[in-house]
Amino acid sequence: MFALLNDNLEIKLRFLERQDNPRVRKWLQDPYILDLTFVIPGPEKRATLPFDEKMMDQYIDVLLSDRSRKTFAIEVDGNHVGNVGLKEINFETKKAELFIEIGESDYRGLGVGKAAMAILMDYVFTQMGLDEMVLEVLEFNQAALRVYQQLGFELSHRSGWHYDQDGRYWQVWLMRLPKARWTFCRQQLNLPGNLVTKPLL
Ligand SMILES: CC(C)(COP(=O)(O)OP(=O)(O)OC[C@H]1O[C@@H](n2cnc3c(N)ncnc32)[C@H](O)[C@@H]1OP(=O)(O)O)[C@@H](O)C(=O)NCCC(=O)NCCS
Repeated sequence: MFALLNDNLEIKLRFLERQDNPRVRKWLQDPYILDLTFVIPGPEKRATLPFDEKMMDQYIDVLLSDRSRKTFAIEVDGNHVGNVGLKEINFETKKAELFIEIGESDYRGLGVGKAAMAILMDYVFTQMGLDEMVLEVLEFNQAALRVYQQLGFELSHRSGWHYDQDGRYWQVWLMRLPKARWTFCRQQLNLPGNLVTKPLL
């Protein structure tokens, strides 16, 4: 699967591989990423920081081998800059949960996240045959909320609470994107001009 941005950045998704471990480890140690994502929710979704080597490797093992997940590396012009994927894939209910992080800060705000998610949505709704995507997002994560809303995700309900290292509580919102809404929003989206998706090899 790949996409081309207007300024000719090439965005590709490929399956995450064991050799990607150093970059995933680096992002797992970035407080910006950890504050905005639910990497490994502990009891009551409390942050489980800091990650030691063993925990990081355990998480990467989950990304690579959990059968209810599919994890893709996002490549921009051949550089691995983040990951996007599905978890809790359920072929009976035809639902899955989305997650994403652009780990390399230089690549945030360039349209990479939106393009990567658009590629993935095309894949899940056409090739995987799923009917609905859901995700969880923290109430203050403005960048993520904006991208998700642009893609067509709508707020459903508060799915829980998250407390940070300082003990502050935040709402966790559940957002939904049914296939029919993606089909509609895909046409309205201001997507990269040359966005093309191809079957994943
Ligand atoms: C959230 C995230 C995936 C978005 O990816 P991105 O590549 O930075 O976003 P894009 O460049 O595709 O931006 C898409 C839209 O969101 C807007 N946006 C991007 N960053 C923003 C910010 N910090 N505040 C407000 N809007 C923002 C962009 O302006 C763009 O809108 P436009 O098309 O109208 O200009 C990325 O910032 C990230 O990885 N953040 C850290 C991890 C995280 O929060 N993951 C999600 C957990 S739920």
